[in-house]
Amino acid sequence: MNVLAFVQKKGGTGKTTTATNVSVAATMRGFSVALIDIDPQGSALTWKNARADTHPYVEALIPEELPHWLEEHGSEFDLVVIDTPAHDGDALARVVRLADLAVIVTQPTMLANAVAVHLRDVFIDFGIPFAVLLTQAPSTLTQRLERWIQNHRLLGTVVDAQFAYRMDYQDAVPLGLAVIEYNPHGRAAHEVRQATDWLLNRLEMV
Ligand SMILES: Nc1ncnc2c1ncn2[C@@H]1O[C@H](COP(=O)(O)OP(=O)(O)OP(=O)(O)O)[C@@H](O)[C@H]1O
Ligand SMILES: [Mg+2]
Repeated sequence: MNVLAFVQKKGGTGKTTTATNVSVAATMRGFSVALIDIDPQGSALTWKNARADTHPYVEALIPEELPHWLEEHGSEFDLVVIDTPAHDGDALARVVRLADLAVIVTQPTMLANAVAVHLRDVFIDFGIPFAVLLTQAPSTLTQRLERWIQNHRLLGTVVDAQFAYRMDYQDAVPLGLAVIEYNPHGRAAHEVRQATDWLLNRLEMV
């Protein structure tokens, strides 16, 4: 079992979108996946409640319950994906210590970057493996985005796929779908497959 946590203290950067989409993409790669929502906002749970398919398995927990849940149920899954809340530093610290990989989900903006820098320092202090995933990026790979990718390499390893700002990511949510189900041949689907393969590779699962 591998634990993959999507984190960013800043709100609205795309943690839940990434967690749901990567969970479905990993399921489609043949892995058994649990998506654990520890955000009291319950966005991943809202998505699951709209979803017809019972895979991936989705459950909401409070952060304190996570260690026991992993002990009891972790071995039933190849991959446990954790969607974390913004703003709650205590919950984040508790969860990332259990993660095999923490992924800082961040937008290419100066303010998101400032928060990501802080998180990076925490991960380095605790010795937690982490990577940076850029989301809601401009949809054309402009020089400006290239510069942002270079900047984020100063933070740490950057996932070799960005999620652009695309309507598929929003339109799939009320249907309880991931973008690879909603529009399998779309660009968003391609990005999600690429990012998921990168993450599975980083976790040595493929
Ligand atoms: N790549 C994208 N393109 C377009 N819209 C996006 C993209 N990623 C996320 N969104 C939209 O942005 C909003 C915030 O995304 P999401 O809920 O995934 O962020 P979050 O980091 O989980 O937020 P919170 O901190 O509140 O938990 C949602 O409405 C989502 O549909
Ligand atoms: Mg969220």
